[in-house]
Amino acid sequence: MKRTLVFLCLLCAFSAVWSQRKEIVLTDGWEFCRGEKKDNWQPVSLPHDWAIAGPFDKKWDLQRVAIVQNGETEATEKSGRSGALPWIGEGHYRRSFLIDNGKWKIDNLRAELLFDGAMAEPTVRINGENVGYWPYGYNAFRVEIPQNLITAKPHNLLLEVDLKNVEESSRWYPGAGIYRPVTLILTPRTHLDDWSIYFHTIGERNGKAVVEVTGKAVDADESIIANLSLTSADGKVVAKSESLSLAQDGSFHASFQIVDPQWWSPESPYLYTLTASIANTDGRVIDTKSIRTGIRTVRVSREHGFQLNGKTRKMKGVCLHHDLGPLGAAINKAALIRQIKIMKEMGCDAIRTAHNMPSQWQMEICDSLGMMVMAESFDMWIYPKCKNGYARFFREWSERDIRNLVLANRNHPSIIMWSIGNEIPEQWSEEGRQIAIRLQGICHSLDPSRPVTQGMDRADAALGSGFAQAMEVPGFNYRVHKYQQNYDRLPQGFLLGSETASTVSSRGVYQFPVVVEAADNAKSTLRKQHYNGQCSSYDVQYCSWSNLPDDDWRWQDDKDWVIGEFVWTGFDYLGEPSPYDEYWPSRSSYLGICDLAGLPKDRYYLYRSHWNKEEHTIHLLPHWTWPERKGQVTPVYCYTDYPTAELFVNGKSQGRISKGDGRLDRYRLRWNDVKYEPGELKVIVYDENGQPAGEKIVRTAGKPAKLKLDVWTQHLSPLLKADGEDLAFVTVSLTDKNGTLIPDADDQLTFEVSGAGCFEAVCNGDATSLESFKQPTMKLFNGQLVVVVRSKKEAGTLTLRVKDARRKLSQTVTLQTK
Ligand code: GAL
Repeated sequence: MKRTLVFLCLLCAFSAVWSQRKEIVLTDGWEFCRGEKKDNWQPVSLPHDWAIAGPFDKKWDLQRVAIVQNGETEATEKSGRSGALPWIGEGHYRRSFLIDNGKWKIDNLRAELLFDGAMAEPTVRINGENVGYWPYGYNAFRVEIPQNLITAKPHNLLLEVDLKNVEESSRWYPGAGIYRPVTLILTPRTHLDDWSIYFHTIGERNGKAVVEVTGKAVDADESIIANLSLTSADGKVVAKSESLSLAQDGSFHASFQIVDPQWWSPESPYLYTLTASIANTDGRVIDTKSIRTGIRTVRVSREHGFQLNGKTRKMKGVCLHHDLGPLGAAINKAALIRQIKIMKEMGCDAIRTAHNMPSQWQMEICDSLGMMVMAESFDMWIYPKCKNGYARFFREWSERDIRNLVLANRNHPSIIMWSIGNEIPEQWSEEGRQIAIRLQGICHSLDPSRPVTQGMDRADAALGSGFAQAMEVPGFNYRVHKYQQNYDRLPQGFLLGSETASTVSSRGVYQFPVVVEAADNAKSTLRKQHYNGQCSSYDVQYCSWSNLPDDDWRWQDDKDWVIGEFVWTGFDYLGEPSPYDEYWPSRSSYLGICDLAGLPKDRYYLYRSHWNKEEHTIHLLPHWTWPERKGQVTPVYCYTDYPTAELFVNGKSQGRISKGDGRLDRYRLRWNDVKYEPGELKVIVYDENGQPAGEKIVRTAGKPAKLKLDVWTQHLSPLLKADGEDLAFVTVSLTDKNGTLIPDADDQLTFEVSGAGCFEAVCNGDATSLESFKQPTMKLFNGQLVVVVRSKKEAGTLTLRVKDARRKLSQTVTLQTK
């Protein structure tokens, strides 16, 4: 009785009379509970991550393992490996919905649920009947609702999703729950199969783009015809094909030549709309599907390396894990847009979705903002990298998983490459080579328009077994010193830095003396002196299997046959706290160019100085507030695209220097002997002609005096959409009265949100913080943190008040939502 009442409360109806297909994102009206007992249901909205609120605790998924990929031979305790958040166990979701057949007869109705990913092992039930299951939590999958359930009366159905996360199944924080959207798709039984529609560019002929479209109608007889049209962004039909007859299996096909095409690229992400429809002979449209897509070609070759639209370019890429820091795995459009914009501003033009399938929202954003994508699939095949990982499913599910990856994503122009794996242990074996050939073949059979790669970490083994030679794009992770010998042995004539750098740093932390070293090496300076859960932001520490950005760039810049790189990683992510994976309370990575809150570390400006060719960069480090270092050597680095610069401390020149050939001197300017004295640090940069081109000043901070709030939103005006989903990211900095950051401040702040929004999360980027992201209080980490606020569905004014009780400071910001 109680259950029935709950379901009635949840009942949601789609009442409008409709004749076309309906695609309804099932966001609200869900209930969720944890555990096997299935009690204590709570109302939730999707996307949802049940574990992100914490509490952090080393007992969650405490792993005692030897990480073989990192060269370890003895098992040790790895406390924060998968984020130290409570993601293990069962989770259950339920929601009822009404099947509205609109104009269609109920027995002519087809209903499908499209899951973009659910962590993990989702079992889907309708009215108690099992209708779907998909073990891999990262993949999109479709569930058809059986006809007998659609026609049964009453037409309100109960949808239940059971999830199960097992320990030692992940090398990082996977998240937990239905963390990506679920869409209900209603069509007549004669309908277009969504994933059959495939648009791709064949090439360029006499200035025209040659494109091909295929698709398939289901349950269609020979009287049905298909129509296709391609519309430009300003609404003009640029290609059209009508009355296409269907082949026996319902498929149809057309090719077009587009005059004056707008080619998609990161610099000009132009999108067209493809509309496919099927109709009766009397012209009555039965089903229509529109897709935003783009015209562009991708090629790899010995002669020209990687080419987009016939032009050779090197991928300036970053790897991204799927979590969104304090939001966890639950995806959000504003947060995804912010990530991509931060990366683009750095000059990055590509991401690798490490090590799994991307979300549809993320791919739509990459399409429209202009970001190339290597869409990845697996972190392991048959041999497990962690005890209960995907290896449990690989033999039975890998083909279906690769198929869904390609079918769900192949119309996104941003995707320029598929990846079938990352550091797969079976690189050395014939069996591995056979699997690589099989998976690559599946990608090609569903999408001949894109090359296939994977990231290999055992170059000698992979070359010895023929595994590397079998790949269309041989991707190598790290070990740049092997690039030349790899290239010499490869028939392809080029290689990709599928994973590079793994340099480690913590925002605002500087360790002295400055030593270039592998930070996880037991004998290292870091281990001996600074084993405190932080890494130095001088950007000189890396993992023993990896290197510094400077080392990668030599190969990228000097060798035509190195076709690009994907830096590990663009942002810090939850879990994998190398080099502190045995140190509690470290629970998130140090590998990001930006921290977990999305704030740039110094390294951001190093990449920007080399990658961003549109704008100049002049960045100085470290900060200049070191009361305990008076008279002590405090090296100063400048990250700039200019070749020469002169540094001054309180007006005294520290020398004019130019970029040189040393390991750290080709891309950075360094003054290693500067003695600290409080005051002003100033750099003047000079261009190639020796002319002064700009300057940058960093000052010693005075007393803490004010809180500075900087707001980021995806819209300019009004700032937020009143849709209950839009987010504002507010960076809070404690400064002196002149606005100089207090670089070591760790004040406890509190946050109050009132009006048309609510508090969503907070993050300070400290990988050792155990404060919950979901409580409206947190300490500053090195003077800064980021508060995230969410709009409500009612338009109005949202106010965020930030308070620092210790210093009796407070600051507010007001945002309009509409
Ligand atoms: C790589 C691996 C990544 C990450 C990284 C950390 O070997 O592919 O997933 O673990 O190391 O440096």
